[in-house]
Amino acid sequence: MSLASLKSVTSSLAKLAIDERFYISTPIFYVNAAPHIGHAYTSVLTDVMARYQKIKGKKVLYATGTDEHGLKIQQAATANNEDPKKYCDGISDQFKEAIQICECDYDDYIRTTEERHEKVVQKIWTILEEKGHIYKGSYEGWYCVSDEDFLTETQTKEVPGPDGKPIRVSADSGRPVELFREENYKFRLSAFQKDLLKWLENESVVKPVQFRGDVIAWLTKEELPDLSISRPIDRLKWGIPVPSDPSHNIYVWLDALFNYLTVAGYPDEPYVWPPNIQVIGKDILKFHAIYWPAFLIAAGFEPPKQLLVHCHWTVEGQKMSKSIGNVVNVVEAAERVSPTALRYFLLRQGVPGSDNDFSMMQLINVANSDLADNLGNLLQRCTGPAINVDQIAPSIFEADFHALGQEGTDLFNSLVQLPDKVSKRFDDFEFYMGLQSIMLTLKCANIVMQSKKPWELKKQNKMDDVYLILGACVETLRVVGIMMQPIVPSLSSKLLDRLNVDASQRTWNHAIFTEQVEKRPLGADQTILFKRIAEAQPTAAATNKPNVAANGPKKEKQEKGPSKKEKKEKK
Ligand code: MSP
Repeated sequence: MSLASLKSVTSSLAKLAIDERFYISTPIFYVNAAPHIGHAYTSVLTDVMARYQKIKGKKVLYATGTDEHGLKIQQAATANNEDPKKYCDGISDQFKEAIQICECDYDDYIRTTEERHEKVVQKIWTILEEKGHIYKGSYEGWYCVSDEDFLTETQTKEVPGPDGKPIRVSADSGRPVELFREENYKFRLSAFQKDLLKWLENESVVKPVQFRGDVIAWLTKEELPDLSISRPIDRLKWGIPVPSDPSHNIYVWLDALFNYLTVAGYPDEPYVWPPNIQVIGKDILKFHAIYWPAFLIAAGFEPPKQLLVHCHWTVEGQKMSKSIGNVVNVVEAAERVSPTALRYFLLRQGVPGSDNDFSMMQLINVANSDLADNLGNLLQRCTGPAINVDQIAPSIFEADFHALGQEGTDLFNSLVQLPDKVSKRFDDFEFYMGLQSIMLTLKCANIVMQSKKPWELKKQNKMDDVYLILGACVETLRVVGIMMQPIVPSLSSKLLDRLNVDASQRTWNHAIFTEQVEKRPLGADQTILFKRIAEAQPTAAATNKPNVAANGPKKEKQEKGPSKKEKKEKK
């Protein structure tokens, strides 16, 4: 084979490998404040989807990072008396730490101040310019620095300011706007209305469905105005220069959005494109569903396959804000209740299509009830040496479930239906619904335990009956443990280790009831799966300050037969 044809085969193989990649991204975070639970939510949702795809066998590229240019960051650095780059380094590290604490297993962490990214943005500018999509114009209108957003008159409104005098704010975000009059380069956004509507014809392109409706309404209500995509350098110092005119810096949203192309590996060939899923909050829908696909189409790239949009977290019913003092810091919250509990709560309680409310007390209640009681207690009962004297995962057959009476049959039915139900929900980004089904199946297993009372059978030395019950419940735990890997990775891994499920047997295909012909020894780690979190005091929940009670020594719930709650349920 000639060298040329060898090269071509190698590059086609590389392209094939790249095409197989499932590319998912978070938005990149502004580095003007410390990470809060809203940021954690975006990250955790993305991480769950990435992990879910991985255990379904996909090769995943999961990207995240920080958005570091623009007036907002320039002003934050000045207010902090710091050089902008140094300032960005500090907060970007905080985001990285917070994301890692939340067990988000990203593949690439991009910072828009990196050289690889600046090169891509300038290259894209040149492409857009060469294709005739950029012209020099002027802008006279409103600008919201907090959102880095150009707004028309109708997109703003007047509200009473802190001193009672009226101020103008963005009608959408409620943040103050300023009047700008300046010369800048413009992008012919107006030319892409039809292309955008075409892209939106595919119903799954923006999910949940109500957000697709919003975008279509914006596009059809009135003509799209062209978009300013540069700022004079004397106004915006902290940005990427326009390659053909260094007296201008590139508009931060054009810069930020192309981070997704940088992490894809562009301009090296082959690169991973288009993104399969881009997770975003509802506040940045316009940028991702209008500007972003328009820029891409204009530059000759395919727009993303799907935007997954989520709503916002409020705290105790109020928008999180520094002035109210109710911002829940990710690292503090995770340290207080454990990353597992924080992740679990965000996913179990967070409904992407509507706003969600965060309360420390509710978090503790949900985590204790689902992870400590429903899941942890069941594991303890199945594996505690007082009952499971041989320390085994017993053999189990379908007939064994039915031999346990109606409760056993109910558990069996619930267990065999579970994989389909959960896959459908996870595919649709409805993790909270998937978790609800999982918890219901666990409840069925707890009812079997409760009604059959293996601890009493053990006293009567009826060990075959004991292992029949344990077998059904351990099999349930195995299936559930595999399904919960994307949700609570370290807890699931501890659970599956205890059940001695081989690492090769933890893919999504293994999350299905399977007759276990041979018993197997349990794993060695007998420690509690999830330690109950001490009850939060209502006052602490309201202020969200770490409190001694919740941080103090936690009582481990000992396994001694039925809990009070379960007794009540039984009645
Ligand atoms: N830098 C832009 C994104 C550029 S992407 C090319 C940005 N950054 S952000 O830090 O303000 O927000 C990042 C993500 O956090 C967004 O998806 C946003 O919706 C999300 N959240 C910010 N506050 C939130 C809540 N209170 N609740 C849930 N998510 C929220 O926008």
